Amino acid sequence: MNYPELDRERLPRHVAIIMDGNGRWANALGLLRSAGHTAGVKTLKKILQTAVNLELEALTVYAFSTENWKRPLAEVDFLMHLFSDYLEKEKLEMHANNVRIKFLGRTEEFSPLIQSQIRDAEHLMRNNTGVRFDIAANYGAQDEIVRAARRIAADVLDGRLALDGINEKVFEAALDTCDSPPVDLVIRTGGDMRVSNFLLWQSAYAEFWFTQTNWPEFTPEEFVEALVDFGKRERRFGAIKSS
Ligand code: IPE
Ligand code: IPE
Ligand code: MG
Repeated sequence: MNYPELDRERLPRHVAIIMDGNGRWANALGLLRSAGHTAGVKTLKKILQTAVNLELEALTVYAFSTENWKRPLAEVDFLMHLFSDYLEKEKLEMHANNVRIKFLGRTEEFSPLIQSQIRDAEHLMRNNTGVRFDIAANYGAQDEIVRAARRIAADVLDGRLALDGINEKVFEAALDTCDSPPVDLVIRTGGDMRVSNFLLWQSAYAEFWFTQTNWPEFTPEEFVEALVDFGKRERRFGAIKSS
């Protein structure tokens, strides 16, 4: 795979994707929403493979939000089975690709089977040095921030941390993403321009890229288009333009 328009020197270190639009894609074709989720898994495989080929440092994907439990039970059940299948079928290939997988969110609320699959996958790939692949599953950024605050409060109560010792670095270290590089680029498919409780802290200075394309139709080529666009942006981080 060769993308001449892509300047490897200007690649984001960390790309985070809100994989949205599965249901609408399926409905438009007269299919069940579940068919959209199945198709979405195929897209995910292709995008992860592209990240591997491009040697991206980190890819985070939003797979299931803390709010997605509000969906009909049948859809939630379907997603859980799909998730479990995906882990089972893909983990060896991911491992062979030197991918290091990690889960963000309240994974302890998943079924015992899924929890053990998550632990197995994380354990299998723990020493890999390729793409850091984080899956946000039962993840909500507000929930993550509250859990981090609780952890820090417990350290203060136990005398391990002084009140004055709480700063951005300490807070970041208490988040689920503690060992990931900063998020450079957030991509959202499916046409909506909102964040939906994804990586609120981490995207403070991220660039955003939105597309109308529904996730099942998102391609490696469009992914690269987003990366090329990122490479053209001028990030200032609050400072003034450097000449
Ligand atoms: C994203 O697609 C997948 C999940 C949220 C699990 P949706 O299921 O939200 O599809 P739309 O946005 O309703 O089309
Ligand atoms: C965000 O999509 C969550 C995931 C992609 C997993 P949603 O479909 O849940 O977001 P809203 O409801 O449109 O904001
Ligand atoms: Mg959606």
